[in-house]
Amino acid sequence: MPESTPSEAAPADFETSSDLHTDLDRSVQQLLLDERPSIPPRFLYDELGSRLFEVITALPDYYPTRTEAALLESSIADILAARPVAGSTMIDLGAGNCAKAAALFEHARPAHYVAVDVSADFLEQALSQLRPRFPDIEMTGVGTDFSQLLDLPAGIAADPRLFFYPGSSIGNFSRSEAIEFLKSVRAAMGPESTLWITADLDKDPAVLERAYDDELGVTAAFNRNVLLHLNRVAKTDFELADWRHVAHYDRAAMRIQMHLETIRATTVHWPGGERRFAKGDRLHTENSHKYTVESFSELLAIAGLRTVEHWTAPEDWMGFFVAAPA
Ligand code: TRP
Repeated sequence: MPESTPSEAAPADFETSSDLHTDLDRSVQQLLLDERPSIPPRFLYDELGSRLFEVITALPDYYPTRTEAALLESSIADILAARPVAGSTMIDLGAGNCAKAAALFEHARPAHYVAVDVSADFLEQALSQLRPRFPDIEMTGVGTDFSQLLDLPAGIAADPRLFFYPGSSIGNFSRSEAIEFLKSVRAAMGPESTLWITADLDKDPAVLERAYDDELGVTAAFNRNVLLHLNRVAKTDFELADWRHVAHYDRAAMRIQMHLETIRATTVHWPGGERRFAKGDRLHTENSHKYTVESFSELLAIAGLRTVEHWTAPEDWMGFFVAAPA
């Protein structure tokens, strides 16, 4: 590997190395041998990783979760007035424990709730607790990686649908992936359908870097846990003590770049291969793109969606967008 390159000097095509769609066909070991090695972000979310991420959302330094909750709470009446959604099929993309959607049921009043997430087991548990609380809402769990293919089961009403994509998760896609993803959502919307989506906005880099490298070190643990996961599933022998978490905001590219960086030279082995890392070399794990209201509306427009209305949280830290087919 060439000497370590600070992420701020990364060339513009850097994001292709973490492209979700190409990762599918490439083994983890191959990605580790790249000139700019990376680990696909989905490996962050094993059982322990998912729990650590839940803790991240409770951290004072991680503003997105509480900022979004405050924004939704203060704007819900206006959000409902902007475009009617009552009686829709609410399709929750990345539902997790379904708590965010459930908090909106009494406002959005969906006829049918469709929770989509990669972990089907986790979903079924959450839904079995929700059903008795909301007996009037039909509920369906769909275990699928919707970032690859938005494949909804037959029999879900075509229109009106309310797609719900919170958490500013759209930021974990590159710009081109985000457009492809939004186009797939657009293709699944009828004329009366609506998209509710949160985008995290560009802000003071110090606030951003603190959110992705918190004082308690939970985010560092979350990021470094990916190595434990790989040691299990890819039979690598990463030594955790050799790697530290690094989060850097690249303001020109408007994205937080998460890496793991060696604190000393180290060699990682796996059956049939190895890779030597010099001190200061980096492994890329995830990007989190930030937007402006204008750049995000433009992204929606490219995907065939018009912004009906948007709200920003106090201090303009996050934006919530109501979008409809253009
Ligand atoms: N979706 C989260 C975000 O971009 C993921 C995340 C938070 C994350 N902290 C992280 C990913 C640290 C990797 C490393 O806000």
